[in-house]
Amino acid sequence: MRFCFLVEEHYRHDGMPLEVVHHLRAAGHRVDVLRPGAELIDLARLLSGGTHDAWVLKTVSGGPGLGLLESAAAAGLTTVNDARAIRPVRDKAQTAVVAALHGLPMPRTWAAADPAAFAAIPERHYPLVVKPADGSSGRAVHLVERPSQLAELGAPEAGGLLIAQPYVANDGLDLKVYCAGGEFFATQRTSPLHPHRPATERPVPLPREVAALAAQVGEVFGLDLYGLDVLLGPDGPTVVDINDFPSFRQVPRAVERVADAVVRLARTGSSWPTPGAGSLLTPAPAAR
Ligand SMILES: Nc1ncnc2c1ncn2[C@@H]1O[C@H](COP(=O)(O)OP(=O)(O)OP(=O)(O)O)[C@@H](O)[C@H]1O
Ligand SMILES: [Mg+2]
Repeated sequence: MRFCFLVEEHYRHDGMPLEVVHHLRAAGHRVDVLRPGAELIDLARLLSGGTHDAWVLKTVSGGPGLGLLESAAAAGLTTVNDARAIRPVRDKAQTAVVAALHGLPMPRTWAAADPAAFAAIPERHYPLVVKPADGSSGRAVHLVERPSQLAELGAPEAGGLLIAQPYVANDGLDLKVYCAGGEFFATQRTSPLHPHRPATERPVPLPREVAALAAQVGEVFGLDLYGLDVLLGPDGPTVVDINDFPSFRQVPRAVERVADAVVRLARTGSSWPTPGAGSLLTPAPAAR
């Protein structure tokens, strides 16, 4: 098969997704690599002939790859993940709205451009976690114990949005769930909000209840390669973050599994909800 991988500058030297490219090539597939952050891309040539079976993107916050993937989808090409599924999880405010509409367990979420605006959140919701809506890699994730601490938070970069959520009480360990084309894996990783704990990430068994939740997240958002951060809080498993095409760090045989999933998805298409099943913002009546 023929694939086009969009590789953002951020991942230029990273195992994921480059090792997946090497693995696919070794298996006899033709893989073109485009670096949208570093080269001229002739859209007419690439988008006219349908020359690839699938375009694949591991997105980076604010990177140029997503617009190109969406262009490929607009031209009728298959994309992995489905291009429509990515923005709703790149923006944590949108993620919270879609999750709430579908009854997924996620903390209540407020959004503001100026952290001072969070002062209007009633004190019974404290402590809060404040983070950039377009954040990743734990950047600028803050635990706010008291309203007076809001003044210490800076405004988000480039005029973006911040979100605030009640802190979900937990033992300092995230359950990170990874999905590659229908297969699920879990690792346990130290929460960045618990810096006193040694930083670790290791594979762990995936509880049945969390596997069901992860499958539901994939269906709701139409994602095929994705991850979610789950906290085992007082009200049960609670999702605090969803990522398209995550690192799959610590997942056994991650490169092979992701490569196999990409081939399968290029053949069968994505799990984006079929027409009639509604859009992300119109949940099935049962979910209301
Ligand atoms: N509402 C919350 N309650 C408790 N802990 C939280 C909450 N939101 C986030 N955290 C903790 O902060 C971590 C980072 O938050 P989040 O995943 O939203 O940010 P991120 O920048 O996308 O990080 P990463 O890329 O590492 O996943 C979570 O994995 C979790 O440990
Ligand atoms: Mg996260």
